[in-house]
Amino acid sequence: MKKITSDIYYIGYNNENADLFESQFPLKNGMSYNSYLILDEKIAIVDSVELDGKDVWFKSIEEILKERKPDYLIVEHMEPDHSGAILEFVYKYPEAKIVTNQKSLNLLNQFFDFNFDDKVILVQEHDKLSLGKHSLTFFFAPMVHWPEVLMMYEKHSKTFFSADAFGKFGVIDAKDNWIDEARRYYVGIVAKYGMQVQNLLKKISHLEIDRICSLHGPVLDKDLGKYISLYDLWSKFESENKEGIFIAYTSVYGNTKEAVIKLKEELNSLGVEDVLIKDLSRTEMSENVAQAYRYRKVVLASTTYNNGIFPIMHDFLIRLSEHGFQNKVVGIIENGSWAPQVEKITKNILTSCKNVKFIEQYVRVKSGLKKQNLKEIRELALALRKEE
Ligand code: FEO
Repeated sequence: MKKITSDIYYIGYNNENADLFESQFPLKNGMSYNSYLILDEKIAIVDSVELDGKDVWFKSIEEILKERKPDYLIVEHMEPDHSGAILEFVYKYPEAKIVTNQKSLNLLNQFFDFNFDDKVILVQEHDKLSLGKHSLTFFFAPMVHWPEVLMMYEKHSKTFFSADAFGKFGVIDAKDNWIDEARRYYVGIVAKYGMQVQNLLKKISHLEIDRICSLHGPVLDKDLGKYISLYDLWSKFESENKEGIFIAYTSVYGNTKEAVIKLKEELNSLGVEDVLIKDLSRTEMSENVAQAYRYRKVVLASTTYNNGIFPIMHDFLIRLSEHGFQNKVVGIIENGSWAPQVEKITKNILTSCKNVKFIEQYVRVKSGLKKQNLKEIRELALALRKEE
């Protein structure tokens, strides 16, 4: 429990032992499931926490409220990492009302074997809820990150409660780089819905915001323009890094890897210093997808395998196509000993991605590197550097 303003408290649950988010994204520093309490004539709690954190959550509520009881539990988002403890809350505080929208009510009744119809106050876009000096204005942000998402602005404290938006992986005080873990989180869970994020940014553009209270990661109360600009960039599918090169590769016996290293050397010799190489077999997939999102120029290098493409590269390409990979320049290094497939399959999988330009200078390795391949690598490096 921690004070954010004189009347707003952080009452979230930090799970330092959480290993995976959504059972798929590895966590380096655990995960925070944020919740907030607004203390006024009426008392509102903003979201619950995952069920494992209910004891910590209730303890924080009791410490702050003493003999008082909450009047409202506002449900911004029904994913169980936030809604897990709602039923426990209803049993503990039967007089409190749940404030949410119709879509969340439907999900509440789906997730729990309990009928919430008599427990809720349903709100519409622009509705207000006065707590005393604090007043909340609600607005919807569908698909950031689920269809029912409700966000709100509290006028007195100039606080934007942003649900999952502006969140990140890690416990609230994790010693990591906000941008890296926020990007990996954004690309993993929201990236596809850039248009919906743009709609959200338009909705908040006229608001005077002093702090952003997300459901994951720290409260943001400095340099807000930086965070909002990043969300603007990401949701427009623009790359943060326009000059450097990201090379993602798979290699079974080292020949494709050798081609990748030669490409890096050529790029360096041409003055391109920022070349990031990742072996997809040995590095974290969600991190690599996020790097592909970060760089505008991406090289994909892989081996033909089982008359297809190496399975880890196949997985990577599918994830790119499902996470809004677009506005990119892509180079391909293919390796195939008897029936090369990499170029064809890479293009087929990325065909649904908008504005992906494939560089025509392909590198076509047949087993081991030959003089001709060195020439192709040089030409690919020149073409990559030339791309604006
Ligand atoms: Fe943090 Fe979409 O739940």
